[in-house]
Amino acid sequence: MTDLLRPHAVATPVERLDGPAKVTGTAPYAFDHAVPNPAYLHPLQAAVARGRVTDIDTRPAEELDGVLAVLTHRNAPRLASDEDAELAILQSDEVAFRGQFLGAVIAETPEIARQAASLVRITVDEQEHQVQLRADHRQLYVPEEVNPTFPTDTSQGDVDLAARDAAITVDERYTTAWYHNNPMEPHSTVALWQDATLTLYDSTQGAHPVRTAIAPVLGLDPEQVRVIAPHVGGGFGSKGTAHAHLILAALAARELPGHWVKFALTRQQMFSLAGYRTPTIQRVRLAADHEGRLSGIGVDAVEQTSRFKEFAEQTGIPARTMYAARNRRSTHRLAPLDVPVPSWMRAPGECPGMFGPEVAMDELATACGLDPIELRIRNEPHVDPESGKPFSSRNLIACLRDGAHRFGWDGRDPTPRGRRDGRWLVGTGVASSTYPVHYIPGSAATVRYLGEGRYRVEVSATDLGTGARTVLAQIAADALGVGVERIELGIGDTALPVATVAGGSSGTISWGSTIVEAARIFRHEYGDNPSEGDEAAGTTPENPAAERFAMRAFGAQFAEVRVHEDTGEVRVPRLLGVFAAGRIINPRTARSQLIGGMTMGLSMALHEESVLDPRFGHIVNHDFAEYHVAANADVGALDAHWIDEDDPHVNPLGAKGIGEIGIVGTAAAIVNAAYHATGVRVRELPVTLDKFLH
Ligand code: MOS
Repeated sequence: MTDLLRPHAVATPVERLDGPAKVTGTAPYAFDHAVPNPAYLHPLQAAVARGRVTDIDTRPAEELDGVLAVLTHRNAPRLASDEDAELAILQSDEVAFRGQFLGAVIAETPEIARQAASLVRITVDEQEHQVQLRADHRQLYVPEEVNPTFPTDTSQGDVDLAARDAAITVDERYTTAWYHNNPMEPHSTVALWQDATLTLYDSTQGAHPVRTAIAPVLGLDPEQVRVIAPHVGGGFGSKGTAHAHLILAALAARELPGHWVKFALTRQQMFSLAGYRTPTIQRVRLAADHEGRLSGIGVDAVEQTSRFKEFAEQTGIPARTMYAARNRRSTHRLAPLDVPVPSWMRAPGECPGMFGPEVAMDELATACGLDPIELRIRNEPHVDPESGKPFSSRNLIACLRDGAHRFGWDGRDPTPRGRRDGRWLVGTGVASSTYPVHYIPGSAATVRYLGEGRYRVEVSATDLGTGARTVLAQIAADALGVGVERIELGIGDTALPVATVAGGSSGTISWGSTIVEAARIFRHEYGDNPSEGDEAAGTTPENPAAERFAMRAFGAQFAEVRVHEDTGEVRVPRLLGVFAAGRIINPRTARSQLIGGMTMGLSMALHEESVLDPRFGHIVNHDFAEYHVAANADVGALDAHWIDEDDPHVNPLGAKGIGEIGIVGTAAAIVNAAYHATGVRVRELPVTLDKFLH
């Protein structure tokens, strides 16, 4: 169903249309919007992980000059719905996690709000809490489904039997750490409640999804809520769902009609209020013959959720579809803890869920005496192992071969500890990557002729810094058969036609296909010589091929790792990713997405880890001084390539998503390279230096 057969703007490296506004500081982020009569909110937070508030003394705060209001569960209005327990704040005296909102101070300046908040005395009757994930947690339970709607457990054949009878087995436990999304722009919202309408300048991955989530909580019709988000400084999933700060700001705005209430989470507050990636404990089993042909694949994952609201990460999903094997199983178990609710972080499911299996594949290659690329090629399935459907396109092998060539893999001696440079042990490693094609229906777009060859195209999409604004303009230009400079694009506003969330690497393909449809209808109705004001609308076209095919992007990640023999210091001088993701709409922004994902994968492998204090239930390294995100000095030569992949089935653009696949497999490639360098197999992320010192 590919419509853009002869692309012009598409597939060219158009520079970001918002680049000048970004670098000159004129692109308004949520908190930047100049508003009359601002008020500033500072939250009150729980200092214990579980308990009941027995007293809140707000008088010292209320007596401070410049304080406009103090909200607690005692005076906050009843919410219209408590269905989403994360959003149902200030409705009772219960404390469900440390850092939970217990109230807010709103004042004329941020400084007064913060000082006043520090004067509020909160007394809590503390209860015993559980905050540590353990594989043998006594209350492990089986969720009904895993994110978003996958079956919790799947089984074909008998993995236990396959493992017992196999010539070679790998049966190991792998763990990934607790990670926090840390976009540059903290979660921020600016709220005005006036004439029964709530207006928000918000930092979000979806203006319409935010409105849909918060309107029922506040007892409003969606049409009474307007959300505006023209520029967003990253999200990585943490702004893909509505968090409680939106409700706190809205309640404050309702208390103070006519005031714009400004609320930006501090970096520290983000560590308890903006979601995070659950730690995972994965038992991975591979059963194979001497030639490395898999007869069994098993992944049993244990993860955490909060006790008050469930989030079940789909860690076992990639193992269901990655390699051929007659016997397979995947399971998910959740430990309910007194912690904030986990949520999406770049490639939920795929990212942690490819770590264990892709390290296990490396262990199997070693056990079989096989090159790890050859092992993967031998286990390439002819159809999707889970559904039995053919893949619309699957070019994992092409990525592995192309990457091997570019990286200089051929002739690699597989023996660990075989290469050194002075005191540095040097190794190389590889891992596969994959991410599903999420083509999401439900968006709408309009095309209006402005005269003089110019068109206005509107869809309430979000540009998180990914380049979506630029890429959508390219798609609109080709769909209308005009130059990119003729397109004026409107995005990020619920006053525009509805759009789905910027999540699941779905944005470009879903919104872009919607624009293609609107442009097709426009040309059908008005031809090539429209009159000023002519307008047409379209919705996301259905893709009947989605029923017939399994659709995924694939990739291969290569890493060179150096480990210092004396100190254990780990460096990654080289990372290479080769991807097969359908048509690449903009090579410039695509490359940024892919190397950005790979950098985040490097960061996950070596640096990032949210360290829990089990006594109090909070993350102790809750700032950039101690939660280290890879910086320039941590990143060596980094390169991303893609193969020409022509997939006529995925959508009218022939494109797959690229926002998330870059992070998938990177950590496994680094661990595999570290093993090759040192002979030490690390199965617990992050790969810190102590793991090499015996
Ligand atoms: Mo992304 S984690 O799908 O918002």
